[in-house]
Amino acid sequence: MADRKSTNITWYEATITREDREQLLDQKGCVLWFTGLSASGKSTLAHEVENALHGRGRLTYVLDGDNVRHGLNNNLGFSPEDREENIRRIGEVSKLFADSGVIVITAFISPYRGDRDKARELVEDGRFFEVFVDCPLEVCEERDPKGLYKKARAGEIPEFTGISAPYEEPDSPELTVNTAELTLEQCGERVVKILEDRGLIPG
Ligand code: ADX
Repeated sequence: MADRKSTNITWYEATITREDREQLLDQKGCVLWFTGLSASGKSTLAHEVENALHGRGRLTYVLDGDNVRHGLNNNLGFSPEDREENIRRIGEVSKLFADSGVIVITAFISPYRGDRDKARELVEDGRFFEVFVDCPLEVCEERDPKGLYKKARAGEIPEFTGISAPYEEPDSPELTVNTAELTLEQCGERVVKILEDRGLIPG
């Protein structure tokens, strides 16, 4: 699906640059890429971070797995190929948002290391933060807010991440937050701090 089909296309160079937009916003466009098992807390944390940043006058946008699959990616399932395409599209959308100066927060399982690495490569160095939302499978299964682990164990959902489909943990994420050990607030603070420390938002 990712093959290029369009020909005779020419890149148009804009006069207003990312730097112009960033000056307007007093922040640097970047991608906070949350990855982890279903029910690990990615979406909850993404919105916690968004609330905190918004409260500090920063422009953000959350791209969330379940939501994006209602629209842009509603033609994709959960086979390895479809997950790859899911993450490829989100990587490209994140790149555009980051170029607009927005702080993008993505919450997708994104189970394959290679797919996450490709998303990273689309964004300028120092503007992509892989955040491993670490939570033991047992805890995710215990939480099971959507009842999906139960269904997966009963064989009603094929290729369910952590049960019958793989999850590849990040090798060297910019940040790991353990949502089984830390509070939501503590996890959120750590994420915001990394943006502050790296100069993407004013201190
Ligand atoms: S990803 O693997 O392609 O990154 P994504 O984050 O978009 O997944 O969607 C995951 C969400 O879809 C889960 O939180 C869950 O609600 C739902 N889901 C439905 N079927 C599956 C499945 N087979 N594996 C994982 N998640 C599933």
